[in-house]
Amino acid sequence: MYSEGLKWCLALQLLLPYCFMETSIQGQSADPKFVLSGSNVSLQSSNLPENYKRLDWFYSPDLKILEWETHQPNPHYFDTKFKRRVKLGENGTLHICNVQKEDSSTYILKVLLKSGFEEERRIPLKVFDPVPKPDVTIEKTQEMNNSCDLILSCMVRNLSVSYTWYGDSGPISEKLQSGVLNITVIPQNYSRFYKCEVSNPMSRNSNTVYFISHCQLARSSGVAWIPAWLMVMVPTILGLLLI
Ligand SMILES: *[C@@H]1O[C@H](CO)[C@@H](O)[C@H](O)[C@H]1NC(C)=O
Ligand SMILES: *[C@@H]1O[C@H](CO)[C@@H](O)[C@H](O)[C@H]1NC(C)=O
Ligand SMILES: *[C@@H]1O[C@H](CO)[C@@H](O)[C@H](O)[C@H]1NC(C)=O
Ligand SMILES: *[C@@H]1O[C@H](CO)[C@@H](O)[C@H](O)[C@H]1NC(C)=O
Ligand SMILES: *[C@@H]1O[C@H](CO)[C@@H](O)[C@H](O)[C@H]1NC(C)=O
Ligand SMILES: *[C@@H]1O[C@H](CO)[C@@H](O)[C@H](O)[C@H]1NC(C)=O
Repeated sequence: MYSEGLKWCLALQLLLPYCFMETSIQGQSADPKFVLSGSNVSLQSSNLPENYKRLDWFYSPDLKILEWETHQPNPHYFDTKFKRRVKLGENGTLHICNVQKEDSSTYILKVLLKSGFEEERRIPLKVFDPVPKPDVTIEKTQEMNNSCDLILSCMVRNLSVSYTWYGDSGPISEKLQSGVLNITVIPQNYSRFYKCEVSNPMSRNSNTVYFISHCQLARSSGVAWIPAWLMVMVPTILGLLLI
């Protein structure tokens, strides 16, 4: 269940703060902080008041991660999915090991002052998985009158990502919500390659297909070949038969 890194992290919890040098997140800000899954994160609240008698960290309003009565030597960690991955650090900092996508949330720190007054801080965290390499598929290459209609599609399985296509002369499309590139090219303006880049706020990946003429694919890595064979080879075979 737990990754190697996490085991190490757990073993090292006694040796804090070395375990948690990674990402420090200051409280009070309303913008979510973006981190990559697997990171070690420290959620920090600036300007913690001095005279408090209790700290509570929540994952969500109804899921309390820990509670610390300052007259107690140690915080109490509740039996949640965080139990073995979190540690209360200095100044109320919440250290989380090996964050996962499901850890994304607006965390809440409640501070109970000696006066009985309670303060609350909200600290948003958004965790992204690294984007895998996309598959690029040739959906259509149709040559007509020396011009070629091209439809290329770029796909990453069930992740929300943005797509950008690049060619010889830079970006071809603005960021697309769908990965489909639908263009018409002629021998004067085709690109020798079409690269699809997929990205989320924390990572990016890409795959490229190559063309040897405006309507003819070259061998390339990562292409889903089935439609390409159908689309490119069938006209070629027909061409050979007609000679
Ligand atoms: C998180 O901490 C653990 C233990 O300290 C370490 O093994 C791991 O590499 C860290 N992860 C990252 C992404 O730094
Ligand atoms: C905790 O807060 C005190 C006072 O603001 C500061 O001097 C100290 O460096 C802080 N410790 C950490 C680990 O941030
Ligand atoms: C392009 O092809 C169409 C039929 O497919 C034809 O009617 C037209 O004249 C052609 N245009 C040129 C410029 O060759
Ligand atoms: C992601 O894809 C896998 C397999 O294709 C599927 O089982 C799973 O339900 C999908 N998850 C989401 C969130 O769409
Ligand atoms: C591709 O673009 C052409 C012209 O803009 C449009 O007619 C066609 O429907 C588009 N095809 C797809 C699959 O989006
Ligand atoms: C290439 O040139 C043709 C004809 O001028 C034009 O219709 C097409 O949009 C151009 N394609 C690209 C990708 O610039």
